[in-house]
Amino acid sequence: MSMSVNVRQQMVEGSWIRRMFEEGAALKALHGVEKICDLSLGNPIVEPPAEFEVALRRLAEKPIPGMHRYMANAGYEETRAAVARELERETGVSLTARDVVMTCGASGAMNVVLKALLDPGDEVIVLAPYFVEFLGYVDNHGGKARVVRCDRDFLPDLAMLADAIGPQTKAVILNSPNNPTGVVYPESIIRGIGEVLARKEDELGHQIYLISDEPYRRILFDGLMPVPVFRHYRNSVVVSSHSKDLALPGERIGYAALNPESDEHDDLMAGFIHCNRVLGFVNAPAMMQHLVKNLQNVTVSVAEYERKRDLLYGELSAMGYDVVRPQGAFYMFPKAPLEDDVEFVRELLTLLILVVPGRGFGAPGFFRISYCVNDRTLEASLEGFRKAAVAYGLTS
Ligand SMILES: Cc1ncc(COP(=O)(O)O)c(C=O)c1O
Repeated sequence: MSMSVNVRQQMVEGSWIRRMFEEGAALKALHGVEKICDLSLGNPIVEPPAEFEVALRRLAEKPIPGMHRYMANAGYEETRAAVARELERETGVSLTARDVVMTCGASGAMNVVLKALLDPGDEVIVLAPYFVEFLGYVDNHGGKARVVRCDRDFLPDLAMLADAIGPQTKAVILNSPNNPTGVVYPESIIRGIGEVLARKEDELGHQIYLISDEPYRRILFDGLMPVPVFRHYRNSVVVSSHSKDLALPGERIGYAALNPESDEHDDLMAGFIHCNRVLGFVNAPAMMQHLVKNLQNVTVSVAEYERKRDLLYGELSAMGYDVVRPQGAFYMFPKAPLEDDVEFVRELLTLLILVVPGRGFGAPGFFRISYCVNDRTLEASLEGFRKAAVAYGLTS
């Protein structure tokens, strides 16, 4: 029994996820992959934009001498500067390469930031429904996740957030556009969170960091624009990646950007860079840094995702599902028509639809649909959703 007790415990707690995954795999083996509507994964179906292919070909044809070598742990100065320029354009806050460290995706960035911030027993507030990996990342660095529920529209409840903050609170994680709900927090909420944190910092006499996880920042619908956390709270960090906006999740390229106005800027940036090294990432992938440097203003077709949102949201609502209308990312989080979300997800499995139970995101009673799939799969799933709606007496 050499495996760590903690890791074993995490695996036991996540075992139902594995079971669901295995049941889905068995179903695919039985009926054939093409018969199954797999809406369980957040893996972009779209290809990277044409500009990425052009840049990749150009780099292969004209390699830059030394382009595969180690570099400074923070990443290439020009790439950091390019990310800073784009963030400055979006936020209206002045940034330079000094504020950015290139990382292995947003996950790498989150681990770098949490490692740099946390001492054993420090608390990190996570809003439910949450991206489940946040809990593991906080635990990785000795922290304790404190879960605070969002309201019925999946928006943060400012009073509950304020109540949850105490002497041990070191950070709050936000994620908008949100996985699993697709909800986008309006400016009034981000401003309100900034005000709560500033007040609590004064009361408690220590810094509380707002970590804004933004890999879906550019996948916004209905003409919405990103809300910059930097404009609403001083001690803030943006962690993001090009996994979704350039459809490059397998390439592991992202960044952490620290608000230039933050109290402990130089100290913390040095900590992030150190943690990028000691966590074993060393540096973000070199080739990707060369490529994304010139692609900061390029994004996959958001209109494609918006069209799929319109189709699915319209159909599910008409069938009687209770679902908050998503305004970003590529997820939807309807209420399950029976209390036990795992049972309902199993019911959908019999109709050859794979989705994820809400309890995996800290929200039992719901289920997550990932609609970053081709239209054929999405349209084929509607019949199953309709049958389930009839079976559970939903009315439109
Ligand atoms: C909310 C959220 N944060 C972070 C990540 C991690 O993304 P990356 O591939 O950049 O590590 C994901 C990936 O699905 C996500 O959904």
